[in-house]
Amino acid sequence: MAFNSRREYWGSKLGFVLAAAGSAVGLGNIWKFPYVTGSNGGAAFVLIYVIFVLILGLPIMIAEFVIGRHTEKDPVGAFKLMAGRSPWTIVGYMGVLSGFLILSFYSIVGGWTIGYIIKSISGSVTSLQDSSSAKSLFAAFTADPVQMILYHALFMLSCMFIVVYGIKNGIERWNKILMPLLFGILFVLIGRSLMMEGAWHGLSFFLKPDFSKINAEFLIAAMGQAFFSLSLGMGAMITYGSYLSPNEKILTSAFYIVVLDTLVAILAGLAIFPAVFAMNMSPQEGVGLIFHIIPVIFSNMPYGAFFSVLFFTLLFIAALTSGVSLLEVITAYVIDEMGWARRRAVVVFGTVIFILGIPSALSFGASDAMKLWGNLTFFDLIDKLTTNYMLPLGGFLIAVYLGWKYGLEKTIHELDPDTRIISLKELWAFFIKFISPVLVFILFLMLLRNDIIGQ
Ligand code: PFF
Repeated sequence: MAFNSRREYWGSKLGFVLAAAGSAVGLGNIWKFPYVTGSNGGAAFVLIYVIFVLILGLPIMIAEFVIGRHTEKDPVGAFKLMAGRSPWTIVGYMGVLSGFLILSFYSIVGGWTIGYIIKSISGSVTSLQDSSSAKSLFAAFTADPVQMILYHALFMLSCMFIVVYGIKNGIERWNKILMPLLFGILFVLIGRSLMMEGAWHGLSFFLKPDFSKINAEFLIAAMGQAFFSLSLGMGAMITYGSYLSPNEKILTSAFYIVVLDTLVAILAGLAIFPAVFAMNMSPQEGVGLIFHIIPVIFSNMPYGAFFSVLFFTLLFIAALTSGVSLLEVITAYVIDEMGWARRRAVVVFGTVIFILGIPSALSFGASDAMKLWGNLTFFDLIDKLTTNYMLPLGGFLIAVYLGWKYGLEKTIHELDPDTRIISLKELWAFFIKFISPVLVFILFLMLLRNDIIGQ
C-alpha cells in the first residue's frame, strides 16, 4: 500500500520507462563510458562492467523503484517515512548532496555539447583533417573561461526550464521523441567508423578481452561506471519511482532500462574505438576522447556537417534528460520536505549548482590553479568523489536497508506477479540481500586500500 494518494503519476508506462531511461542514458554512456573503457584496457573492462550492471545495477535499480513507489516520496522523505528518526535518513541526504555535486560537473560537459553544436553549425569542427587539430581545438575551447562559464550557464538554464514544468509536461514529453533518434545517429557513426582503414584493431580492443589488465582500480572504475551510468545510489530512481502508478510493473521496467542503457554504451564504444585505432590515436586520451574523435569522423564524410549538428544536439538532449533527473532529486526534496513551490526551488538550487560548478568549469585551462592535489583538478575530484565513493556507498546502504532492516516482506508486493518456478521476486530478494551489498562492500574495501593506504 502506498503512503500518499495524491501524487502526480507518469502519463503512461512508456513515459516512465523512457524518462528513467532518459536519466540513465546520458553523457555517462557516450562520453564517460568510452574514455573510462579506453583508460582501463578495453574489452575486459566492458565484460566486467556488463557483469556489474547485471548483478549490482539491476537489483539496486529495482530496490530504488520499490522504495520510491512504496513511499511516494523524495529520497529524504522516503527514508524518514520508512526509518523514522533513525540515522538511516542520512542515506537520503547523501543522495541529495550527490545530486548537487554530480550536476555541478555534469553541467560543464553538457555545456561542451552546446558549444559543439554551435561549432558544427559554424563549420569549425567539421573541417578537421586529423585528430591532432581536433585535439588542439578542444584544448583551446575548454581553456577559455568565458565560453566554459557561458555554456555551463546555458546547460543549467535548460535543465531548470524543463524541471519547472514538472513531470508529465516537461520530462516525459521530451524523452519520448528523442531517444529513438539517438539510436539512429549512433548507427550512422558506427557504420562510418567501421569503414575506416584499420578499424579492426579498434574492434578487437573493444571486444577481445585481455584479462591480465584486471586490478583493483579497474574493478572500482567498473563499479563506479555502472552506478553512474544507471543513475543509481543517490535516489534519482527513488524519485522517479515515486511518480510511478501502483499498477505498473517494476521488474520489467527496470530490465528494459538496464538493457537500453547498456546498449547505448556498447554502441558508443563501437562508434568510437574503430575510429580511434584507425586514426592511430591512443584510447587513453581521458575526458576529451570523444571530442578528439567524433569531429574528425564527421569532417571526413558526406553531409558531415549535418550529422555533426544532429549528433551533438542529440548528445545535448541525452545529457539534458539526465541533468533534469539530477535536478529533480533536489527539487523533489525541497518541495516535499521544505514545502517550497517548484519554481522557487528550481531557481534557487539551480543557481547554487551553477556557482558550485564554476571551479569545475575552470579546471581545463593551462594554469595549474585548479589542480588540487596530485594531478587531480577540481573537476576530477568531484567526479571521483561521487562516482567512486558516494554512489556505490549510497547503493550499498539502500540494499542493506531494504534487504535487512526494513524487511522485504513489507515491500515485495510492489513487484510484478509472476508464475515461474523460481520466482523472479525471490531471485531479486536473494541478490539484494546477499550478492549486491557484499560485492559493493568488498570492492569498497579495495577502494579504500587503494586510495587511502596506497597499494
Ligand atoms: N546516468 C547519467 C549518465 O549516464 O549520464 C548520469 C546520472 C544521472 C548519474 C542521474 C546519477 C544520477 F542520479
